[in-house]
Amino acid sequence: MMWSALNPELPVLQGKRVWLVGASSGIGAALARQALAEGAQVILSARRQSALETVAAGHPQAWVMPLDVLDPQAWTAAYASIKARWDGIDLIVFCAADYRPERSWEVAPQQAWQTLQVNLASVYTGLATVLPDMLAKGQGGIGLIASVAGYMGLPNATVYGPSKAALINLAEILYTDLHGKGLAVYLVNPGFVKTGLTAKNDFSMPALQTPEQAAREIWQGIRRGRFEIHFPRRFTRVLKVLQLLPYRWRFALLSRLLG
Ligand SMILES: NC(=O)c1ccc[n+]([C@@H]2O[C@H](COP(=O)([O-])OP(=O)(O)OC[C@H]3O[C@@H](n4cnc5c(N)ncnc54)[C@H](OP(=O)(O)O)[C@@H]3O)[C@@H](O)[C@H]2O)c1
Repeated sequence: MMWSALNPELPVLQGKRVWLVGASSGIGAALARQALAEGAQVILSARRQSALETVAAGHPQAWVMPLDVLDPQAWTAAYASIKARWDGIDLIVFCAADYRPERSWEVAPQQAWQTLQVNLASVYTGLATVLPDMLAKGQGGIGLIASVAGYMGLPNATVYGPSKAALINLAEILYTDLHGKGLAVYLVNPGFVKTGLTAKNDFSMPALQTPEQAAREIWQGIRRGRFEIHFPRRFTRVLKVLQLLPYRWRFALLSRLLG
């Protein structure tokens, strides 16, 4: 149907097995807290074990699973434990990211490579880990946290922006490939959210949200079965219009807006 959601609705999180990768801080931690409060069984992964334990504290259905997304063997071992204990997952959300505000003349190639590995390449490792079981069962959800920085080239996002543009493209491919096989795919494009990641920005961030607001938007979008979950809409809609403009107008407007 023309206006129905692209994914099935997921009205209840209670009892769902959710793997949040990048759950030690910011949006991932807020997603974990809200899902735990609703009774989901949540696996919390990232590198900082103590930060994960703080998020999980007081929730017996939380499971802290430290993981460096750049380590393929760690993915394999983590998922083997999950299968042994919980027989798989219902949803994975890829939240891990690396970001450094930098103009094009400031990029250090080794750091650029690292950012692309964390933000993009590691998602392929994660997908290879969980997809075979999801496909065999014909059920499961995959969420990619991209960004409005992937909508178009924005200054300072010289490495981060292309990694997020690639995630948007990847989510579209995943939806096309997997929807007919019973899997849900969610593309999350937040505007600015106040986290450790954006604390590095020394420019003003319009329509800044809290991680809790972002997490509420994301869970609401997943509940409603949306494919693209973007927020805050007063900001993302402006960018979506800019995205449609011919380059001459877009560049002129962007430089006026962003200086
Ligand atoms: N904040 C924003 O304005 C904004 C806007 C659009 C999109 N996003 C996206 O939202 C997601 C969450 O970002 P955030 O703003 O919440 O930032 P954040 O607080 O810095 O969270 C980043 C998460 O990634 C994890 N991580 C980084 N490298 C990792 C690695 N090698 N292995 C495992 N985990 C790793 C970090 O945990 P450890 O350090 O413990 O490993 C942390 O949990 C990211 O995808 C980001 O690009 C954020």
